[in-house]
Amino acid sequence: MKLFSKKHQRATRQVENLPRHVAIILDGNGRWAKRRALPRSAGHKAGAENFRNIATYCKELGIEYLTVYAFSTENWKRPKDEVSTIMQLLEKYLHESIETMARENIRLRFLGDTSVLSPELRALIEKTNAISEGIDGFQANICLNYGGRDEIVRAARAYAEDVQNGAENTLTEETFSRYLYSDGIPDPELMIRTSGEQRLSNFLLWQCAYAEFYFTDVLWPDFDRKESDRALEVYSRRDRRFGGVK
Ligand code: IPE
Ligand code: IPE
Ligand code: MG
Repeated sequence: MKLFSKKHQRATRQVENLPRHVAIILDGNGRWAKRRALPRSAGHKAGAENFRNIATYCKELGIEYLTVYAFSTENWKRPKDEVSTIMQLLEKYLHESIETMARENIRLRFLGDTSVLSPELRALIEKTNAISEGIDGFQANICLNYGGRDEIVRAARAYAEDVQNGAENTLTEETFSRYLYSDGIPDPELMIRTSGEQRLSNFLLWQCAYAEFYFTDVLWPDFDRKESDRALEVYSRRDRRFGGVK
């Protein structure tokens, strides 16, 4: 079913309440491959390619932040060869991004415990971070070895340590959020999950307190510009009350 005409697609570009920050649980790479009788690795490859397309689209639309769940703290449970395929794809993506991000005015930031990743990947992340410092455009956040609970526990530990070292003990939501990986990034207004699953899977637990959720059966590699428009259109019609009355 075709929901949006060309005219409507153009109109979406001018949507007044476009979210500043969109978060995506990009799910369904494996099923996308399975449906085509391809190995799961082909799904991850298509998924990585799609991330590039959707990041470009978000930037074109004027969205300021895109945060994607690339690898969770639980994804280590997957077969070794699948984990290494995902890590290799990340390496390839970062190699290519290092060439293009300054030209395209795209900042990359990594959320998660990257200290356990391979030395090659860590070096690429450092290089990417250094380039990002000189860019103030659209920001893509890649959650890598990220878990929402892990993030909160780490923040609590870091805060306790600071207090032990003499910092003032005046914890507020605002001061606590500075200890999270997402320090300095506004909360996402819109959280999208592809592939039909309707759960958070440990993603941005703190940050999604008031996010609008959008679930679609579309598998991540098929989530194109048209599907993004659809999600943004639904979001634009949501009535956000934040506990108040309108
Ligand atoms: C999401 O796709 C990508 C990662 C979790 C890295 P999946 O690999 O979870 O795909 P499905 O859910 O098995 O189809
Ligand atoms: C969530 O997807 C993690 C990422 C997208 C990186 P999963 O496919 O790992 O989540 P579950 O297992 O279905 O909850
Ligand atoms: Mg999955």
